[in-house]
Amino acid sequence: NVPVVSEEQARSEMAKKVKIGIYFVTWWALNVVFNIYNKKVLNAFPYPWLTSTLSLAVGSLMMLISWATRIAEAPKTDFDFWKALAPVAVAHTIGHVAATVSMSKVAVSFTHIIKSGEPAFSVLVSRFLLGESFPASVYLSLIPIIGGCSLAAATELNFNMTGFMGAMISNLAFVFRNIFSKKGMKGKSVGGMNYYACLSMLSLLILTPFAIAVEGPQVWAAGWEKAISQIGPNFVWWVAAQSIFYHLYNQVSYMSLNEISPLTFSVGNTMKRISVIVSSIIIFHTPVQPINALGAAIAILGTFLYSQSDEHDIILWQSSNTR
Ligand code: 3PG
Repeated sequence: NVPVVSEEQARSEMAKKVKIGIYFVTWWALNVVFNIYNKKVLNAFPYPWLTSTLSLAVGSLMMLISWATRIAEAPKTDFDFWKALAPVAVAHTIGHVAATVSMSKVAVSFTHIIKSGEPAFSVLVSRFLLGESFPASVYLSLIPIIGGCSLAAATELNFNMTGFMGAMISNLAFVFRNIFSKKGMKGKSVGGMNYYACLSMLSLLILTPFAIAVEGPQVWAAGWEKAISQIGPNFVWWVAAQSIFYHLYNQVSYMSLNEISPLTFSVGNTMKRISVIVSSIIIFHTPVQPINALGAAIAILGTFLYSQSDEHDIILWQSSNTR
């Protein structure tokens, strides 16, 4: 019977690999589509606070409808769950709006090159704020990450300080989001899809008043009219696409976390950025100098080196968890 069992095992291993492969390809594809439509919308309608709010609103609505129609089962949550989710939602909101502000000011590829430095932020926060220490290999991998990002930033043709700082703030906020959500998800029975749904809803509540204060309905109305007159009625579909795809890619990424190790996830997230950087450069005809591309390549290589050490699973968990 032994060979039969191992054959079964092999088959289930294979099935798992195929499933993970499907998750990854879906996650990257959804993310590429989000990034393209998000930038198309921002080019015509430069109000990132509203577009970030709409992404969360559409995602929340989709999940409320799914729960009401029982397409998905609503989670059973208590006060403690929402209390633990609150800091995660604050960090998610800041990271999301900062990334969107960044993309409204610079090329999508540039935002993602800077965002590929997220593991470096994770190490620095863990070291200096949480007092954790890491093996030398981890610190060494920061050299290409930070050096590559710096080179890419210094040689970026359309450098903009707000765009740069937005991506940096997003990195920092997402590190905190991952640290908080690691604590918040521990021992809870809410699965990846519903956890992300609750996170969207709470973030929406947090972001809405700020979006109104920073931009506001008057500016939005004038901008909307202008965008419709330039693009035509299709503009509404672009906004719908960026919102729906934002929710879907995040949902798939949270679902995939149930299936894979944080290490695999981290590598997947970096691969995702490569597909976004390459596809957005092609679609938006972004000018790239060879030295600029070299900086991006070094940064991404550094992230891979970083993810190669088993010894720092903790940071990988922090750096990639709940995405
Ligand atoms: C956002 O709008 O939240 C950012 O585009 C997120 O980027 P990431 O999921 O690739 O880190």
